[in-house]
Amino acid sequence: MSMTVPTRFLIGPVPTGADKDRVVQQTDNDALLARWSAINSGYLEDTFTEQLMDPLLKKERRYPLINRGTYVRTSTIDRLVADFLSKPTKSMKQIISLGAGSDTRFFRFIPGQSRPFLYHELDFPVVTTRKIKSIQQGQDFILGMSCFGEPNIKVDLEAGSLQSQYYYIHPIDLRTVKPGSPIPEHIDPTLPTLFISECCLIYLSPNEADDIFRWIVQSFGQASETKSNSVGIILYEPIKGGDGFGLTMIENLAVRGIVLKTLHKYSSLERQIARMQALGFTSGNGACDINYIHNKWIEAREMERIDKLELLDEREEWTMLAQHYCVAWGWVERGQQFEDTDHTPFRKWSELLQQEDIGPVQD
Ligand SMILES: C[S@@+](CC[C@H](N)C(=O)[O-])C[C@H]1O[C@@H](n2cnc3c(N)ncnc32)[C@H](O)[C@@H]1O
Repeated sequence: MSMTVPTRFLIGPVPTGADKDRVVQQTDNDALLARWSAINSGYLEDTFTEQLMDPLLKKERRYPLINRGTYVRTSTIDRLVADFLSKPTKSMKQIISLGAGSDTRFFRFIPGQSRPFLYHELDFPVVTTRKIKSIQQGQDFILGMSCFGEPNIKVDLEAGSLQSQYYYIHPIDLRTVKPGSPIPEHIDPTLPTLFISECCLIYLSPNEADDIFRWIVQSFGQASETKSNSVGIILYEPIKGGDGFGLTMIENLAVRGIVLKTLHKYSSLERQIARMQALGFTSGNGACDINYIHNKWIEAREMERIDKLELLDEREEWTMLAQHYCVAWGWVERGQQFEDTDHTPFRKWSELLQQEDIGPVQD
C-alpha cells in the first residue's frame, strides 16, 4: 500500500507459475506484519499473532494510516462474525476461512463462547504447514483447542493438515474448487455456515472466484425435508482500481509480481453487491468501504480511544486509502417454513448501516 516506482520503469524476469504462487503465498506475511503492528500500537488485542511470526520477519511498525486500516478491517470482520455466532441455532455453527493464512480468529473467539463452533482454515500446503509448526510450539494454541474438552489433535505435517475437536486446517489450492467438487473431509455442508475471504479471492481469476461462490451456494446451506439451513460470506478486498490512486496501488503491487485479478470485475460497492445477488447470496447482502465503516460504524468511545493511540495527520491520504478497500457480505436462507432456527443466524446483518453512494455497476 505504500508508494513505490511504477512498474513500467522496471525490467526483470517475468515470474513463472510457481513463482507467482509463491508471491501470493507471501502476502500472508504482509497481513501478519500489519496485524502485529496494529496489535503492538494498541489498536487490537491478540496474543496469538506474535506466536505465528517467523523470527526472520522484520518487525517494524506500520504507518498510523495502515494501522488504522488493519484495525477497521479486523474489527469489522470480527463484528460480523460475532453477529453470526450470537444468534442461537439448533445445529452447531461452522466457519470456513478461505486463504486463512495467519488468521487467529478461532483462537480469539473460542474462549468467549458458551457453545463451541467448528472452524476450518483453507490455504496452500506451504502456508498451512508453516502455521501448524508454529501452533505446535505454542501452549496457548493447544489451550484454545482444548476449551471444550479433549482436543484430539492430529497433525500431518507433510500434507499440511491439522484436525482437532473443533479446529481444522486443510491444505487446498482453492483454484481447484468448482461446482460439484467434493466437500473437504470434516466439513459439514448441512450446518449453518459462514465463509470468510479476507483478501484471498482477489488473487484468483474472476472465473475461479465465481466458481467458489457457486460451489458454496450449491453445496452448503441446503434445507432438507425436515430442517432449514443457511450459508453466508464476508469479503474484504480492494475496490476502485480505475482511478489515479487505484492505478498506483496496482502498479506498486505489480512491482512485487502481485496481481489483483478480480479487481476490474468487482471494482465498486455496487458491483460487489451485484456479485452477491448474481451468485446466489440473495436473502440479504451489502457492501461498505472502509472509510464509511470507520466514520459510521465505530462507536464514539472507541473512536476516542484509537484517536489517542497515534497522531493521524495524513487525514486526506487516509480517506483516499480507506475508500479503496471494502467489506461485502451476503447470505441465503432456505427452508424458512421449518420452525427450527438454522436459517436465522445472519439476520443481525440486516441491521447494519448501509452506504448509499455505492458507485457504478458498469464503467
Ligand atoms: C493477503 S493473505 C491474507 C491472509 C488472511 N486471510 C489474513 O487476512 O490475515 C492471502 C492468503 O490467501 C491465500 N491464497 C491465495 N490464493 C490461494 C489459493 N489459490 N488457494 C489457497 N490459498 C490461497 C494465500 O496463500 C494467503 O495466505
